[in-house]
Amino acid sequence: MQSINLLKTSTFRLAVIYLALFAASAITLLAYVYWNTAGFLVRQTDEAVQAEITGLAEQYAQGGLPLLVHTVIQRSRDAGESLYLVLDPAGRVLAGTLDGRPTAEEGPDGWLDFLYSRKTLDGVEMKAARARAFILPEGFYLLVGRDVQERRQIETLITSALVWAIGLTVALGLVGGLFMSRNMLARVDEINQTSRDIMQGDLSQRLPIAGTGDELDQLGRNLNAMLDQIEALMIGMRQVTDNVAHDLRSPLNRLRNRLEVTLMGDSSPEEYRAVLEKTITEADGLLGTFNALLMIAKAEAGSLRESMTLLDPANLVLDAAELYEPLAEEKGLRLDVDVTQGMQIKAHRELLSQALANLLDNAIKHGTPDSASVSPVITISAKPDPDSPQRHVMISVADHGPGIPYDERDHVLERFVRLEASRNTPGSGLGLSLVAAVARLHGGRVRLGDNDPGLKAILIMRRTLK
Ligand SMILES: Nc1ncnc2c1ncn2[C@@H]1O[C@H](COP(=O)(O)OP(=O)(O)O)[C@@H](O)[C@H]1O
Ligand SMILES: [Mg+2]
Repeated sequence: MQSINLLKTSTFRLAVIYLALFAASAITLLAYVYWNTAGFLVRQTDEAVQAEITGLAEQYAQGGLPLLVHTVIQRSRDAGESLYLVLDPAGRVLAGTLDGRPTAEEGPDGWLDFLYSRKTLDGVEMKAARARAFILPEGFYLLVGRDVQERRQIETLITSALVWAIGLTVALGLVGGLFMSRNMLARVDEINQTSRDIMQGDLSQRLPIAGTGDELDQLGRNLNAMLDQIEALMIGMRQVTDNVAHDLRSPLNRLRNRLEVTLMGDSSPEEYRAVLEKTITEADGLLGTFNALLMIAKAEAGSLRESMTLLDPANLVLDAAELYEPLAEEKGLRLDVDVTQGMQIKAHRELLSQALANLLDNAIKHGTPDSASVSPVITISAKPDPDSPQRHVMISVADHGPGIPYDERDHVLERFVRLEASRNTPGSGLGLSLVAAVARLHGGRVRLGDNDPGLKAILIMRRTLK
């Protein structure tokens, strides 16, 4: 179904414009060819006739009419293509190759174009001729010309060849233009059809790519990339809504129920106080969860790329370490910092700091060694990635705790996922989700590896060379 008129397509219009330009230049070229072939023939005959007239004029000047007639008689014997005629004032033929004065009128250029009869082997033939005529003093008539029959034929041949050439050019151009526009139109139609399907709610549809790499393909690819992004955002939104519904409703319900139960009984002020304090703690937890969710949504929206700045990851690591040092010490852990200074990354400072804080928080919270045989050390580092030191920076937080089992490492990056072992520690299961979202925002990635024993959480970021 073609919903757009073929002749209205921009491709066709372009094709017509190009065709017009091309035809104009072809016509110019062919005109030049014509001028040099057929035009040349005309000029050559005219010049030959003119030269003969000059010759005869000299004879006439030297010997008057008798010498002129004599010369014309002589020349008429072996005239070839030349035509002569001399008439006396009464119109009788004195000399020449013609039987009588041609009836044609003189053209504006002073030349006569006429037909004359000529005897050939098989009868009389009408042939085209071109000549100049003069009335001499005393009323004598002189005509000098040329048979141009053959020349006219060549001319016709050249002209018809040129007309055919121009006609073919235009016809081929039109057919080509129509063909190209039809092709283009079919693809635009496909794009339109897919767009309609997508608008009707099928966001999984993608525009067809012909694989030619042309503008339409580029457009299709960009639109598809946009659709991917929209789809990812929609899925993210839906997840957040689901998460909020599931994971925030139950704690809120619990909180509300406890308040209700407390109100029903007869409690002492101390008891009320204790319940209120517990409520505040839980509300803080809920607020923390909300903030974490918002921050993840912010990181995933991708709109923060504009507010990224160039910064040295070493400084970021040093700041985070300073902030968490007291907390680690409180839990009997040592914090070792190992940084290479002078590298540069383009990053969102606030979000990347928060991601680092989350990793440190996890290491302190979940990464306390179970046995006394391992040293209670957390190492935080920022170094060039050994695999591609020029291109990537590796920021890592490594502890000597129980670690995360291999087959849980992808799972814990999802929202609200907490391992069974962490059931008794406070937290919402959003920390690593934010780290993953921040990595994605920066075009980097998170790798959860083994620290033998313990967890080594690695954030790989693209390096900006100075
Ligand atoms: N350093 C670590 N050592 C062991 N387990 C960890 C570590 N970091 C994270 N985990 C596990 O991954 C889960 C998800 O972490 P996270 O998303 O930060 O949530 P939270 O810290 O709020 O529990 C944690 O509950 C814990 O089970
Ligand atoms: Mg955490």
